Amino acid sequence: MNDNSIKLVIIENGAKQIIQTHPGEYRNLMMLLRDKLFLEGFGECGGMGRCATCIIKTKGINGISNIKERNEPATLSKLGFHENDIRLSCQLLITPDLDNAEIEIMEY
Ligand code: FES
Repeated sequence: MNDNSIKLVIIENGAKQIIQTHPGEYRNLMMLLRDKLFLEGFGECGGMGRCATCIIKTKGINGISNIKERNEPATLSKLGFHENDIRLSCQLLITPDLDNAEIEIMEY
């Protein structure tokens, strides 16, 4: 395995699984989750940060990936989510900031 691999703990419906990836394998975290988990209706706007169907709860994200940019803060606050750990997965790039993070698929 290449040594810049990134390990993610994914929680879906209470079940945990570990997924390994590396920078550049996917355009963003939403694409990875959609590809690996076959989630229905996930990522409907294709990563524009507008639909919020790619919403996740996160734990253990580091660095600048904690900063919500572009459409993300506006889209989330329209839905009443102001917490730092609630994110749009399409706005998170797969970088070492995500290594060992916990990502929970949310239903809202
Ligand atoms: S895919 Fe639509 S907000 Fe993320």
